[in-house]
Amino acid sequence: MIITIVGGGSTFTPGIVKSIALRKEELEVDEIRLFDIDKERQDKLGVLVKWILEEDLKSDIKLTVTYDEKEAYTDADFIFAQMRVGKYAMRELDEKIPLKHGCVGQETCGCGGMAYGMRTIFPMIKVIDDVEKYAKPTYWILNYSNPASIVSEACRKLRPDARIINICDMPIAIIDVVAAALEVDKKDLVYDYYGLNHFGWFTSIEYKGEDVMPKLRDYIMDQKILLPAAYLKDKKALTSSNTNSNRHTKGSWYYVWKGVYEIMQNFPETLPNTYLNYYLQQKEFVEHSDPEHTRANEVMETREKNLFDGIDRYLATGEIDESVFYAGSHGDWIADLAIALKNDTKARFLVITENRGAIPNMPYDAMVEVPAYIGKKGPEVIAQDEIPLFQQGLMMQQLNSEKLLVEGCIEGSYEKVLKAFTLNKTVPSMKVAKEVLDDMIEANKGYWPELK
Ligand code: NAD
Ligand code: G6P
Ligand code: MN
Repeated sequence: MIITIVGGGSTFTPGIVKSIALRKEELEVDEIRLFDIDKERQDKLGVLVKWILEEDLKSDIKLTVTYDEKEAYTDADFIFAQMRVGKYAMRELDEKIPLKHGCVGQETCGCGGMAYGMRTIFPMIKVIDDVEKYAKPTYWILNYSNPASIVSEACRKLRPDARIINICDMPIAIIDVVAAALEVDKKDLVYDYYGLNHFGWFTSIEYKGEDVMPKLRDYIMDQKILLPAAYLKDKKALTSSNTNSNRHTKGSWYYVWKGVYEIMQNFPETLPNTYLNYYLQQKEFVEHSDPEHTRANEVMETREKNLFDGIDRYLATGEIDESVFYAGSHGDWIADLAIALKNDTKARFLVITENRGAIPNMPYDAMVEVPAYIGKKGPEVIAQDEIPLFQQGLMMQQLNSEKLLVEGCIEGSYEKVLKAFTLNKTVPSMKVAKEVLDDMIEANKGYWPELK
């Protein structure tokens, strides 16, 4: 049983490897392979992963670090994809260029997300084609690579038969925070959720059969933020650079938890995904952003720096500090999903999947994020009720923006991509859309297909 991690040089690789290794029995994993196109970066991660497997967990899982597609995928069972095309240098531009024009500057939402999507579509298709060529015919690609909504739409369109499931860790990160706020074990929480990726709502949360939405709502209204009281008391936890504690509560993440309160003040019936802030509070987001210092800078100064400094220190002294790398729900979620597929457990997960009627008043071919039972044949999606006009309207606008972007990228159509930017709710006018797009074309030379 072989698991290949694409984007082996990612800051999330150590955490994912740890989650896999801790589930060795259920996964029956013999070998983990790391594959990346950045040799220097992945070689460093290889050193740490070797330490995790051999020294930390005393595991006999074989490790292969490679830059060759054939070696990476031959006979692989699972491919965990998590590549960042253009790395943090391009993320920084995704965030800063829109802000320069007064628009939301975010990694996966709005213009930044669309720019990132245009860089990622074809590299992702290449991964699928290479995997089809070399891996076992029963392979599964579990994809974290962002922007997951755009990537999943492109895969649906270009490689409809690929065995790929796109996933996101934000809903479970929100559930982690909800559990900490309500002081309950997250394993006892069951939730319903629907939306597009980074664009959805929890409609119910139950704790051991009890509806805890009213309690949660009171908590949020009382605290004026969705963060556990213990974190709020310990301000250091919010600014600490220790990557091992909940990363979703650090730095500018603070605002999105505040935004949950602000959204629920007006629309209290559902718990919004934190990402809805970028679409419902776009003006306010721009106002509290620092156009010279965005989330990309925060990540480079903390998660990325701590990790690579930690590896350098290990190489120099032989000592390692586990807090230099992030391990948590992110790795557990993808490893648990692989267990459900392999062992046909029918466990319930949120996945990004073709709608096919699951949300009756959304298009058949929309890529939606909904709960599904996961077994060896893939997701069995749980049908939803019709969704309200407000949510449906927002989702249709976002969906059509993303569909136009994917079509524009595949066809090389400037006009379609401009329509995608213009339609996006984070962009105030056609003129601004064009200005941002033209700057993005310059910045993404060599990454984007040519637009005519
Ligand atoms: P990172 O820059 O640390 O790592 C990404 C790695 O991908 C780099 O080592 C880079 O060299 C490699 N890469 C780039 N292009 C590649 C290609 N064509 N083939 C193979 N490898 C390639 O980034 P990170 O912050 O650790 O994030 C990794 C990815 O995971 C990003 O796409 C991020 O958006 C995504 N992510 C997704 C979720 C989710 O909820 N879906 C959660 C966290 C992170
Ligand atoms: C959440 C989202 C991911 C996103 C990440 C960014 O986990 O679900 O899709 O990539 O946040 O986190 P970062 O710490 O890199 O800003
Ligand atoms: Mn996500």
